[in-house]
Amino acid sequence: MTSGIELTTHVEPSSGALPQGDPCVIVIFGATGDLTWRKLIPALFHLACTGCMAPQFQVVGVGRQAMDHDTFREQLREGVDHSDESGPFGEDEWRAFAQRLSYLQGDFADPQTHRRLADDLNERSEPAAQNRLFYLATPPSAAPPIIHGLAAAGLNREAKGWSRIVIEKPFGRDLASARALNATVAEAFKERQVYRIDHYLGKETVQNILFFRFGNALFEPLWNRGHVDYVEITAAEPGGVGHRAGYYEESGALRDMVANHLMQLLALTAMEAPVAFDADAVRDKKIEVWRSIRPMIPEEVSRRTVRAQYRAGRVDGTGIPGYRDESGVAPDSCTETYAALELHVDNWRWAGVPFYLRTGKRLARQLTEIAVHFRHPPLALFPQEQALRPNVINLRIQPDEGISLAFGAKQPGAERKTVSVSMDFCYRSAFGENPPSAYAVLLLDAMRGDPTLFTRSDGVEAQWRLITPIEEAWSARSGAPLPAYPAGSDGPPEADALLERNRHRWRAIKDSPGMCNSQT
Ligand code: BG6
Repeated sequence: MTSGIELTTHVEPSSGALPQGDPCVIVIFGATGDLTWRKLIPALFHLACTGCMAPQFQVVGVGRQAMDHDTFREQLREGVDHSDESGPFGEDEWRAFAQRLSYLQGDFADPQTHRRLADDLNERSEPAAQNRLFYLATPPSAAPPIIHGLAAAGLNREAKGWSRIVIEKPFGRDLASARALNATVAEAFKERQVYRIDHYLGKETVQNILFFRFGNALFEPLWNRGHVDYVEITAAEPGGVGHRAGYYEESGALRDMVANHLMQLLALTAMEAPVAFDADAVRDKKIEVWRSIRPMIPEEVSRRTVRAQYRAGRVDGTGIPGYRDESGVAPDSCTETYAALELHVDNWRWAGVPFYLRTGKRLARQLTEIAVHFRHPPLALFPQEQALRPNVINLRIQPDEGISLAFGAKQPGAERKTVSVSMDFCYRSAFGENPPSAYAVLLLDAMRGDPTLFTRSDGVEAQWRLITPIEEAWSARSGAPLPAYPAGSDGPPEADALLERNRHRWRAIKDSPGMCNSQT
């Protein structure tokens, strides 16, 4: 059992205000899709209402469906109403924002679409229209025709202003396709114009990993093989695939979450200090981490990875059908909805320290965290000490955003009994209001020309270099039975066995204590 020690958190007063983006036109390809509706427009609305959009900004949605501007605006309005970002903003703010939205119907592969877009943008006289941010909220297969179309229409050129392109994940589906996509992008855009987005990097708690590690002198001396026993990185979701079954069937948990979000968390946890906090210095150090991991050979894939699919169960008391019974999923689907990996970062800092990564749909609850487990003390002086969970620093990415440090303390009383207690830092009690969404942060960075939180071309290739051999070994064994876990559980027993071999154990997902609860 862990008991909470209350800490006084002293937070310096700060405006917390975000800066303003350059005046620009944002063109969203995939404007009628889920991402635009759910994330991009609510984020832009929030930025507009909080004064972060330059006054002359415009948003042009490009999509295949026929619809007029007003219908488009109405659809987007619903997304904003459903989101957490509408905040205190109401009808007046929405009306002002909606005036800046327009819709252009067209096939992404048709050069005419891009010519019409260029005509539309070139006809605009306001200076803001000279800066263009093209956002590809589309599947990877749509990216090459859009890039070719933009280049053919001259929209990649930076004549009177800037031209930037934001490309959504997944960036390709393996190393070869990511390389091919990088080559296509490079034919039309210079690397400094390209923003490969991974929304995890926009989360406050993810950005804070580097601040925690390199903004304090206390932790970094311990952050290595001499003191760390193992590291766990978890991204558990109670939700299923919703209406994205078509995409997910092709992707699975490894491509959807591990190849990007978990790889980023791993790199931020393991990287060396950059020489400066600028885009290339930070990205160089992250890439070094991925390059320090040896791609697995097939035998290692069998030993060090687990894939599984959920069967029927209950999440939060609600009955959930098995993955194969979800609409849009093949009844004999072998797509994994859960993946766990043991990775080794073979460098001087981390040699011998396993990094365990796991993610899954329909798990017991939402929990994204990085738990750094420290070694036991060299000698057990006090009774029970060896049996205790040793020190753990837990970076809680979401929910209950915060950081906790677990350690042993003497339980008051005559008995010499050690219990595990924790010191907790909780974002909500320290900083109050909700931070801007990850998409708002990243859109603003792209509008301001700061690529630090975006992935460089060599970064995506370094990630796929590790993921592709696993995908290949898994497909070679596609006839083998796929382990299962009940919806609402902590995952399959095979994932427990993966750690038990090294005498390690996953932290509980279902019963993990919410660390901010005592302070709210
Ligand atoms: C997306 C994945 O990139 O991240 C989804 O495609 C997943 O499947 C989502 O649900 C998780 O993001 P978050 O911010 O809710 O943790």
